[in-house]
Amino acid sequence: MNPWEPQEFAHRAAKPARPRTREAIALEPVLRAQGVTKRYGSVTALDHVDFEISAGEVVGLLGDNGAGKSTLVKVLCGAVMPDSGRVEVRGRPLRLGSPEDARRAGIETVYQDLALAEHLDVTANVFLGRERVRPGLAGRLGLLEWPSMRADTARGLRSLGIDIPLTGVPVGRMSGGQRQAVAVARAVLWGSSVLLMDEPTAALGVAETELVIGLIGRLKAQGLPIVIITHDLPDALRICDRLVILRHGRVAAAARTADTNIDQVVGWMTGSRATA
Ligand SMILES: Nc1ncnc2c1ncn2[C@@H]1O[C@H](COP(=O)(O)OP(=O)(O)OP(=O)(O)O)[C@@H](O)[C@H]1O
Ligand SMILES: [Mg+2]
Repeated sequence: MNPWEPQEFAHRAAKPARPRTREAIALEPVLRAQGVTKRYGSVTALDHVDFEISAGEVVGLLGDNGAGKSTLVKVLCGAVMPDSGRVEVRGRPLRLGSPEDARRAGIETVYQDLALAEHLDVTANVFLGRERVRPGLAGRLGLLEWPSMRADTARGLRSLGIDIPLTGVPVGRMSGGQRQAVAVARAVLWGSSVLLMDEPTAALGVAETELVIGLIGRLKAQGLPIVIITHDLPDALRICDRLVILRHGRVAAAARTADTNIDQVVGWMTGSRATA
């Protein structure tokens, strides 16, 4: 498949076993975790956590430091093996603790440190580990198809509304917002079904934060489910459809953003407000 056309994202390409209405498909969770528990020695990082997200939803994962947010994201993308629980993508169980299986199922993660190759340019980063080699020369001269990779990167970035020059500048010299955009583009252009973002705007200035929030909005409009960890409550209330608040490894509350406010969320995060 051509991964560069947004309409061919994996979350849209999934074939239903029997006819269902558009509404039913839209409401069906793309990703669902049930009873996820993870202990580190005497610390219970996650305690029977249930979590789900449907197409076109942006869900904020909130909680104070050490609440278990990053651990949950790592379980969902296979980086951490939970002690118990299950994770499904469109009803199909994921092999827990397997980043390869999560990736095959279309779960892509953007970590705060981004994992970009700083010395390489945008195209090389987007194609990192998936480089196109000229037919017939694979593994011998290492001649890569740069013109086609560059053209497809440009087309992919355009489809996401990302305006970054592809002039061979190493991403290490780009701004935080531009680097975040490259990391997101790399995650979604390969056909992801769910995007997990751990603190995508924590290190960014105001304008750069807006750039990333705009990108999240465009991906949401294309139907991509997005999980965002953030400590910025005003931003969470602005961009998320739902909020899930973790406290001491448990789901303290879950609410539609339209039905809640900052005071209530702070109360759930600190424990001063009873669990909802
Ligand atoms: N690899 C690990 N080894 C031991 N303990 C860990 C490990 N990873 C996380 N923990 C512990 O599990 C708990 C949850 O950590 P986690 O990183 O998930 O929190 P978080 O909600 O992401 O916090 P923050 O907002 O500070 O990033 C914490 O008590 C943390 O110290
Ligand atoms: Mg964290």
